[in-house]
Amino acid sequence: MQKEIVISIDGKAAGRVAGGSRIAGIAPLLAGEEEVFVVYDANADWVAAEVIAAVPGVRGSIALEASEAGKSMETVLLITRSLLEAGASRKALVLAIGGGITTDLAGFAASIYKRGVRYANLPTTLLAQVDAAVGGKTGVNLDDYKNMLGVIVQPVFTFICAEVLRTLPRRDFLSGAAEMLKTFLIENQDDHYDRAVRWLTAGGSDAERQELVFAAAGVKAGIVSRDPFEAGERRKLNLGHTFAHAIEHEARQRGDDITHGEAVAMGMVLAARLGDALGVSAGLEARLTADFAAVGLPVASPYLLETLAEAMDKDKKAEGGLVHFVLAERIGSVVLRDLPVAEAINLLTR
Ligand code: GLY
Repeated sequence: MQKEIVISIDGKAAGRVAGGSRIAGIAPLLAGEEEVFVVYDANADWVAAEVIAAVPGVRGSIALEASEAGKSMETVLLITRSLLEAGASRKALVLAIGGGITTDLAGFAASIYKRGVRYANLPTTLLAQVDAAVGGKTGVNLDDYKNMLGVIVQPVFTFICAEVLRTLPRRDFLSGAAEMLKTFLIENQDDHYDRAVRWLTAGGSDAERQELVFAAAGVKAGIVSRDPFEAGERRKLNLGHTFAHAIEHEARQRGDDITHGEAVAMGMVLAARLGDALGVSAGLEARLTADFAAVGLPVASPYLLETLAEAMDKDKKAEGGLVHFVLAERIGSVVLRDLPVAEAINLLTR
């Protein structure tokens, strides 16, 4: 059964999140489109092949080898050149099929091609389904600076499809699970957080998983509707990310293999410790540590807090001396707190 959530910005429908069990369920969303250009991650070629077979309006396709190094203007130029060579007009719709790197690249390329054509997302990772492919953040890296160039433009739709997760490796699935748990820490209607922990530890039906994934995407869609350009509430989605970015930065320096979700899980535990130390929460670090460990996510940063502080200090310089921390008061409610890095590290090591 298809479900749908509308993202409304300033009272106007800006895009939608649709859910479905089968890949072919995307066809009605593209009905009447005469110029669909598919930009897909070569790892998701089987998904692209099914879409191309099911959608009559596909006029061309571009395969990418999605990688952080290839998340660059060079790849955006490659996509836009291919669109031009294929004769894409201003009526074109670019459909991104892949994880967050692919949806960010294709969305950005579409948003600047001929001063902007529409795009839509078919995310093929759990991480992209609950986070990256929802909300309109697009862009590329500039040298070593992640997501330094980009725009926020809402996709016409993001299709959350259960079938595409069939071949997702377990570690990548867990990486997305961390973002899903993060979302339910921010907003927890219908006991979604505990239900997600139960599903992830004890297993359950595909239908229940799809309900949880769609609920998480829906929470994000709601936040984006209220704050599309991250002036306030959207910052809540960065729960755990201040520490996670520092962990990922250190991992890159050392050549360690840590997924984004793993870093976010460790970051959320550190944020909970900080919240407990500040009296914002009580016993949250122990609760998250137990839940995440049961799910199979790492809970302890392999790097010293002093090492992470250096990376966080760099952010601090950019933001006038304070770091924006997102702290959970309890499951389902977070607050924003600005603190100097040194004070946060002091509280964490007490
Ligand atoms: N990934 C956080 C956001 O889209 O705002």
